[in-house]
Amino acid sequence: MRALFISFEGGEGCGKSTQLELLAAQLRALNHPVHVTREPGGTALGERIRHLLKHDDAGRGMCAESELLLFAASRAQLVREVILPRLNAGCHILCDRFFDSTTVYQGVARQLPTSVVAAINELAIGGLKPDLTFLCDLPAEMGIARARERGGKSFDRMETEALAFYEAVRKGYLVLAEREPERFHVVDGAATVATIKERIWDVVSQSIT
Ligand SMILES: Nc1ncnc2c1ncn2[C@@H]1O[C@H](COP(=O)(O)OP(=O)(O)O)[C@@H](O)[C@H]1O
Ligand SMILES: [Mg+2]
Repeated sequence: MRALFISFEGGEGCGKSTQLELLAAQLRALNHPVHVTREPGGTALGERIRHLLKHDDAGRGMCAESELLLFAASRAQLVREVILPRLNAGCHILCDRFFDSTTVYQGVARQLPTSVVAAINELAIGGLKPDLTFLCDLPAEMGIARARERGGKSFDRMETEALAFYEAVRKGYLVLAEREPERFHVVDGAATVATIKERIWDVVSQSIT
């Protein structure tokens, strides 16, 4: 059996991290080796970049081009240092966001040229695409409300965008899902946690047998 590379995508508060942890637990209960990681981050270098992108004062006023390149730098390191070696060793990888986030956030929502975003993504991932991508689809308002409830924490740089930005993100994801129906599985983020978990397991269990 080949190890699976699975990414979770969707707007803020849609339930990515919740479902990723549930799937990791389910796979581990069946004695599957699983590594959980996230973007940006997942390596020492990537976590520094994550801090720059989200919290560091140095990130204030960051232009869209810098943002694109920082995400790509974090991703390039994660692929080569963590994802590829572990997949090759037979370990499933569950990744909280991957390159589709860049296609949508930097391409669609920040409106950087699609061809440039695609080329930089390609350089970062070196041809490695997830086997499965779960898109938790939720109206932007609901996601933001959930993220606020969850937090109590102050918003990071990426979370303080206007509602229109998040609506563009949602639409952008749905377009990607339509383009690659084999890889993408759209789940209704407004369903219960248990329902979404079952739907995801239906897909994953078919891929691991
Ligand atoms: N299906 C769901 N229904 C209601 N609340 C949910 C659901 N999934 C997650 N939540 C809650 O919404 C918040 C955001 O979920 P989270 O998994 O952190 O989203 P994300 O990682 O996509 O930002 C958390 O407080 C979580 O407990
Ligand atoms: Mg999360």
